[in-house]
Amino acid sequence: MQTRVLTGITTTGTPHLGNYVGAIRPAIAASRRADVDAFFFMADYHALIKSDDPARIERSRLEIAATWLAAGLDPNKVTFYLQSDIPEIPELAWMLTCVTAKGLLNRAHAYKAAVDKNSEEGQDPDAGITAGLYMYPVLMAADILAFNAQQVPVGRDQIQHIEMARDIAQRFNHIYGREFFVLPEVLIEEQVATLPGLDGRKMSKSYDNTIPLFSGGVRQLRETIMRIVTDSRVPGEPKDPDSSSLFTIFRAFASEAESTAFRLALEEGIGWGEAKQVLYERIEADVAPMRERYESLIARPATIEEILRDGARKARAIAASKLSELREAIGLRAMSSVTVNTGKARQASKAVKSPRFASFRDTDGSFRFRLFSSDGDELLLSKSFQDPKAAGAVQKKLKTLGGTAATLHALPLSLVLELDGEPVANTPDYVDEPTRDHALQYLRGALDVLAAQESEY
Ligand code: TRP
Repeated sequence: MQTRVLTGITTTGTPHLGNYVGAIRPAIAASRRADVDAFFFMADYHALIKSDDPARIERSRLEIAATWLAAGLDPNKVTFYLQSDIPEIPELAWMLTCVTAKGLLNRAHAYKAAVDKNSEEGQDPDAGITAGLYMYPVLMAADILAFNAQQVPVGRDQIQHIEMARDIAQRFNHIYGREFFVLPEVLIEEQVATLPGLDGRKMSKSYDNTIPLFSGGVRQLRETIMRIVTDSRVPGEPKDPDSSSLFTIFRAFASEAESTAFRLALEEGIGWGEAKQVLYERIEADVAPMRERYESLIARPATIEEILRDGARKARAIAASKLSELREAIGLRAMSSVTVNTGKARQASKAVKSPRFASFRDTDGSFRFRLFSSDGDELLLSKSFQDPKAAGAVQKKLKTLGGTAATLHALPLSLVLELDGEPVANTPDYVDEPTRDHALQYLRGALDVLAAQESEY
């Protein structure tokens, strides 16, 4: 059994060594495990809450995607996509908004901090606060719940958001009476190092003490490392490795043996300048091959785009079927499926045009059938059956199956319907994925209509 692990990366800012060691590297390592089905996406809708500068948003999406790919994320193993390529996410966000208590959102740390700051400054409590900031946790819940993610690796500052996602999921499940959503669990990596920045405080953009990962190239990396603050001990004087950020940073990149050697060198009085050179060389050994990949990716944005589109296609196949289930559950249904409760339901639905099967004999003598929508569009073409009874039996099963239970596999431009693990029918080829995904929802809707009709008899 694989565990579905999902995390979002807010696309603001430029990745630094602290991000690499604390988030990127461990997440990629975890994604390689055979028992993990990883979903990583760039939270660019969330980025809009923090920035209204289109050029920055554009640049940051590209840089961050390239960074993760250069750092070793394998898009064949991980479903890697842009949040904004998945329209089902904002659609779900609205459904969730309608069951989320406003009071829950009032308690979100980020929103509360902004309100408190305004009050301290004697301003209107909501001054400068967008509804986007307020709704941030709901959008995040949609990111997670659309994919039935079981585990969500995040930093400590995000724990409350995952708890809110659970609350919102539970509330939805309760209201609509079924376990629609898996309740996600927070995954906090206890082992992961937080790197000190240039001034010894935690490396963070907000302290302006970061060492860039790729930006500015090898020169910038070396120059920044040379600016790490040290004490004033001169060469020859023993240094204390455990109070030195140089050593802490070194250890995050080095093996046990390398760290022991560096510890010894410090204790034996290596000069700070020389020690920084050792640190720089150790980091550069890891960063250089990644930087090369990064630069080649950044120069080919179309390649990155293609990778993300592929990821979005995989992700949407899941989200779209979830959303069609939810639409059905909350009453946003095909109108033709409405059974008017007049005691004459049977007649009422008979009058409505419904999807229908049409059987035929193929040129090779085999038996096949098509399923047409109520509008006469071809939805499915069955495989060939030698025995007409077998074809009839499959039709019968399809009539009671219902859209939710149907197993539909997405091919690049079409869908395959499986019954009991066997492919039994295909859709036509569609012109593009969005059309295919639309057809998926349509097909599920049609199967629901058939099932609803069957159950009346
Ligand atoms: N809010 C997260 C952060 O700032 C990013 C994020 C957005 C996210 N959607 C998510 C993380 C869904 C995990 C799951 O780090």
